[in-house]
Amino acid sequence: MAIPQIFRDESDKKNWNKRREEILSLFENYEYGKVPEMCFDNQGCILMERQELTSGHIKECYGMFFQKGKNYANLRFDLVYRESEKKLPVMMQVDPFANNPLFVAMMKNYAPNAKMDERFPMYDFADQGIAAINVDVGSLSFDDPVKSNFGMLELYPPEGPNGWCALGVWAWAMSRVVDFIYADTRFDLDRIMIAGCSRAGKTALWAAAQDERITGVFASVSGCCGSAMHRGKTGERIASIVKEFPHWSCAKFKEYADREEELPFDQHMLLALIAPRPLYITSASEDDWACPPKEFESCVLAGEAYRALGKRSLSSEVFPEPNCPISEGTIAYHIRKGPHGCKTYDWENVIPFMRRELNF
Ligand code: GCU
Repeated sequence: MAIPQIFRDESDKKNWNKRREEILSLFENYEYGKVPEMCFDNQGCILMERQELTSGHIKECYGMFFQKGKNYANLRFDLVYRESEKKLPVMMQVDPFANNPLFVAMMKNYAPNAKMDERFPMYDFADQGIAAINVDVGSLSFDDPVKSNFGMLELYPPEGPNGWCALGVWAWAMSRVVDFIYADTRFDLDRIMIAGCSRAGKTALWAAAQDERITGVFASVSGCCGSAMHRGKTGERIASIVKEFPHWSCAKFKEYADREEELPFDQHMLLALIAPRPLYITSASEDDWACPPKEFESCVLAGEAYRALGKRSLSSEVFPEPNCPISEGTIAYHIRKGPHGCKTYDWENVIPFMRRELNF
């Protein structure tokens, strides 16, 4: 099958909301699964700890709980900010890596000297007038094929071919944090940004595709099931991702191992679901597993949605050299020189882009 189109004809452009729903349900039914109907017996959000640090930063730790019968699921997140007269723009990070020893061991292989806070420098953001929220989504569904079934997936287990999965739970968690932001007068609701690196980048894209309250998106090295097109992808492909990480996608998706061409959608349509909101996609030059050319291609193709919604797409459709951002439009891309990850260089480009596009 040729690459499926975002707009099959003019009427898809005119009735974008309808077409948007159709595309959304393709991703629900074939890749990330569908959020079940839920009804909790009790739920809440508790401020567990508040610290005024000598640096002047405020750090708060929250715990959300969701109860059904005798079972609970918990979601932890941290907020760091500086007091301000103005409402604060928010940058939330999807963090499935917190407290995960497997990840810590893996990172040692990737980048032995990497500073963990390069991925999400919360205190720097606070200094720039941005509230930083780090969401430990693994507290709701642990990133492991077996352990992911505890927590939220124990309350609502996946059912049928489009039953939800860990990645779907993580995206849902981000929307619960958006509920928290909406209920709190400290935050600027027009400037709620989400960021995620790698598996968390996949999640950030899926969360923003579903939740239009998220107003800006940054996905770094999100690769397979993230920003990279499935068709023609090298490095990680569906066969390997569903084998190594069977808990990330819905059951139906596994049927498409080595059948990428038959998928009724491709990942540029996920990016189109984020249009017309600001979206920054990054790759890394040493990250063949994620396949940077295919991460770029989806940005080029999603440009059609940005243009149709009155925004600027990428200003160049030629795959760029490392460290040469294409960031004049509302969808932006760069490939950073170096290994897989999210680094200071990425943030140095993403934050000014968000400031320009969201006007803060
Ligand atoms: C593995 C996995 C990728 C994922 C990455 C990460 O490499 O195959 O799909 O993006 O881990 O999350 O760092």
